Amino acid sequence: MTAPDIPRPTYAVRTLGDEDWADFLETDSHAFGATVPVEAAEFERGMMEPGRSIGAFDGDAMGGIAAAYSFELSVPGGVVPAAGVTWVGVLPTHRRRGVLRSLMTHQLHEIHERGREPLAVLWASEPQIYGRFGYGLASRAFSLTVPRSAQALRSDTPVDPSVRLRLVPADDWRITAAVYDVARSRPGMLLRDDRWWRRAVIDLPATRDGRTALRCVVAEDENGVRGYARYATKPDWSPGHPTGTVYVREVVASDPAAKAMLYRYLFDLDLMGSTELWNVPVDDPLLYWLENLRTASPRWMDALYVRLVDVAGALRARRYTAPVEVVLEISDQLLPWNNGRWQLIADADGARCEHSELKADLAMSVTELGAAYLGGTPLTDLAMAGRVEERTEGSLRATSAAFMSSPAPWVPVVF
Ligand SMILES: CC(C)(COP(=O)(O)OP(=O)(O)OC[C@H]1O[C@@H](n2cnc3c(N)ncnc32)[C@H](O)[C@@H]1OP(=O)(O)O)[C@@H](O)C(=O)NCCC(=O)NCCS
Repeated sequence: MTAPDIPRPTYAVRTLGDEDWADFLETDSHAFGATVPVEAAEFERGMMEPGRSIGAFDGDAMGGIAAAYSFELSVPGGVVPAAGVTWVGVLPTHRRRGVLRSLMTHQLHEIHERGREPLAVLWASEPQIYGRFGYGLASRAFSLTVPRSAQALRSDTPVDPSVRLRLVPADDWRITAAVYDVARSRPGMLLRDDRWWRRAVIDLPATRDGRTALRCVVAEDENGVRGYARYATKPDWSPGHPTGTVYVREVVASDPAAKAMLYRYLFDLDLMGSTELWNVPVDDPLLYWLENLRTASPRWMDALYVRLVDVAGALRARRYTAPVEVVLEISDQLLPWNNGRWQLIADADGARCEHSELKADLAMSVTELGAAYLGGTPLTDLAMAGRVEERTEGSLRATSAAFMSSPAPWVPVVF
């Protein structure tokens, strides 16, 4: 018996306007199997940028959606414009017929034509979706559940007696913006203007799910704020003893002693039983301060995926840990202009990258290059996985080292 021949309609992709918002939201709701509360939907509508939402249409009917934000993204040694891909969804009635492929192809070409952003970035609902479109996993993080304890941290964890804690209004981002900007030299962090700060501190009662309003505690000394934590708590009066949970949204500090002070506070709040930390940087000092990391059950998570839209432009926009001179052979099934050999001559101060006729030292697809781009995925690891080919002995180790970044990439906002 042969499988029935399911007709594959062709989807026209077009830019959406304000008048498409209701259909856009409805498509998202069906795709994600969730209804966004009205207040949250209105807030997100205000985050959208004109001309950056697209829809795939089956005749007049919308079958899928995608959108993008115009970001400024920290990369090793600099800041680069990046398209933040978001709101990707396809109606359950239209899935697995190429709607997403039409949307991704259209969107990546459009980003290229705009010429503003040499790369696109996204968080994936499922890791298996985006590799085929050239997105590589570029940053990872940990989530942790720290049991309540005044002794959660090792006794040699930094202490600065001049640091004081103070509760401040959680939505007053101006108090914390300077600390964030200092930390922003870490790859993966996004420039926060007023719009993105409003998003970072949003606290809609409809989405609290039993938690308190958002709180903000700052660690400061006489010279000003050195760190902050935003969090909420959820009480639990279990018989016998209270075991509430502290939910941490974001901890950022400009120095280790301020950060340690914030963690001590978060791990020992009265009436709480544990502290949930989501999205902790892979090199956060907390991993070295916890007296017993195992009891915090560290869970690995994939974070930002990077797609180089313009290979040469993206490679020129960052800096490199060590001098590197290498010819990369890149394959890209979706964006033909990226195909071919690229000579990269770069160091900590600058980078040149041009098409080249020279023999390639390393070969990989654009997905692996995207994974390595922020300095959080060693090319040597990808080579061990058979995803990068070394054609000139020694070039792999040297190039991998040049691409790596310390601190590791970290992306404090999900979009
Ligand atoms: C994920 C989603 C957008 C895919 O849309 P789609 O129109 O079904 O995808 P396509 O038909 O264009 O598929 C393109 C390819 O990806 C594969 N694919 C798509 N979604 C996949 C998934 N969730 N798991 C595994 N493979 C998937 C398809 O099999 C196809 O493979 P092929 O190129 O080898 O033929 C859609 O299923 C959806 O809306 N899911 C729920 C919301 C969501 O997760 N959105 C993503 C937010 S980051």
